[in-house]
Amino acid sequence: APAADAGSAAGLDWPALRDAVAACSACTLSQSRTQTVFGVGHPQAHWMIVGEAPGEQEDLRGEPFVGPAGQLLDAMLRALALSRAADGEAAQRVYIANTLKCRPPRNRNPAPEELQRCEPFLVRQIELVRPRIILAMGRFAVQALLRSSEPIGKLRGRVHRYQGVPLVVTYHPAYLLRNLPDKARAWDDLCLAASVAE
Ligand code: URA
Repeated sequence: APAADAGSAAGLDWPALRDAVAACSACTLSQSRTQTVFGVGHPQAHWMIVGEAPGEQEDLRGEPFVGPAGQLLDAMLRALALSRAADGEAAQRVYIANTLKCRPPRNRNPAPEELQRCEPFLVRQIELVRPRIILAMGRFAVQALLRSSEPIGKLRGRVHRYQGVPLVVTYHPAYLLRNLPDKARAWDDLCLAASVAE
């Protein structure tokens, strides 16, 4: 069989997209991953949350944001009565995905070619969810969706657009664990996103 790659993501439905991600060998991360990390949440969630790449826990468990950063994210979502459950009210649900579906070795930064190869998967996930708000967490999510390399501090606090969908920028939760003072700013960003999603 030909090597599956993200270039063929256009038009796929959820099961086909999941299969395409699982079979992907478009970059060398496919050789070091334990498994791909597709995404999680309600398929029609009002919120879409985009992170960077799987870490150690995510690579082992096959779900995004299940390590320490994910626990902080879930706590913040809980405070807004939001969850990643796949069922229930779409208005109270999020869909969570990363810019990369495979863990970079030792959690190094994603490489430009990896981001480029993997991007069609995220694009298709966003098309399928059709969220009311996208929350882009950290600089790699921002680079992928806004094509901006401005620092988060300069982009947060206002509503951007991705393909017509309102998009709010905030700090990555792994960064917040090391920079507690910015947690209050991230909370403001989530509240801004919530006001848009209403
Ligand atoms: N950090 C991310 O960006 N994504 C995850 O899934 C876990 C940690």
